[in-house]
Amino acid sequence: MIEINRISKSFAGKQAVRELDLSIPDGKIFGFLGPNGAGKSTTIKMMTGILPIDDGSITLNGVDISKDPMKAKRLFGYVPDRSDIFLRLKGIEYLNFIADIFDVPEDLRRRRIDELTKSFGIYNALNDHIQTYSHGMKQKIVVTGVLLHDPDVWILDEPLTGLDPKSAYTLKELMRDHAARGKIVFFSTHVLEVVEQLCDEVAIIHNGHVQFQGNMTEMRQQFKEDDNLERLFLELTENE
Ligand SMILES: Nc1ncnc2c1ncn2[C@@H]1O[C@H](COP(=O)(O)OP(=O)(O)OP(=O)(O)O)[C@@H](O)[C@H]1O
Ligand SMILES: [Mg+2]
Repeated sequence: MIEINRISKSFAGKQAVRELDLSIPDGKIFGFLGPNGAGKSTTIKMMTGILPIDDGSITLNGVDISKDPMKAKRLFGYVPDRSDIFLRLKGIEYLNFIADIFDVPEDLRRRRIDELTKSFGIYNALNDHIQTYSHGMKQKIVVTGVLLHDPDVWILDEPLTGLDPKSAYTLKELMRDHAARGKIVFFSTHVLEVVEQLCDEVAIIHNGHVQFQGNMTEMRQQFKEDDNLERLFLELTENE
């Protein structure tokens, strides 16, 4: 379970996230939905310890990300919105590096690398440098790195953006499997349709604040009843 307690974050005096509360249960695919600039990535960067939290606290499976970052970081895998990392490494070197950090045994890592990179269609690019990869290929190598060490909690910032349909399908299936095993899949998107397809539960963020949290049936009901949410719904569908 992830618990976010009234977190806030400002950049140069401008508030990006404002007293945000969220509770993310185990065994669910949780969608974090909001238009561009809503504060999704800022929230995720606080969850993963990349940005310090101005106010409030976050615990992942009971471990506080600010107080015990090393322990918390062992629990999750993170796919950032832009994957411009380790560009000078070859794909295979990057994956072995991740597997070394997380102590993935040799035979297991080889099997997972083979399986995952083949299903994402990047197996043949493993000996190329990451800087020669397309945006989608970079995304896939980072996703593969996360899945390699099988963390309990997946935190994915717009993971489907830039993936071709087959790879998006593969990733969605992997997300479903992970949640079915009782683990957490938390991901952000600005696409309402993705949330409707995939999520058990959703939170809608707008101007740095959670406007709604609940299941899909409750979300549809709220969209009908609440004028503000209806406007937000239009904004989200216009984006598509
Ligand atoms: N490093 C930064 N410095 C200054 N302002 C920032 C910084 N990062 C984010 N912001 C501001 O915080 C607000 C929230 O941005 P954030 O990136 O969290 O939005 P988002 O919901 O992830 O949007 P998108 O769908 O475009 O990825 C925006 O107003 C943005 O301009
Ligand atoms: Mg973002």
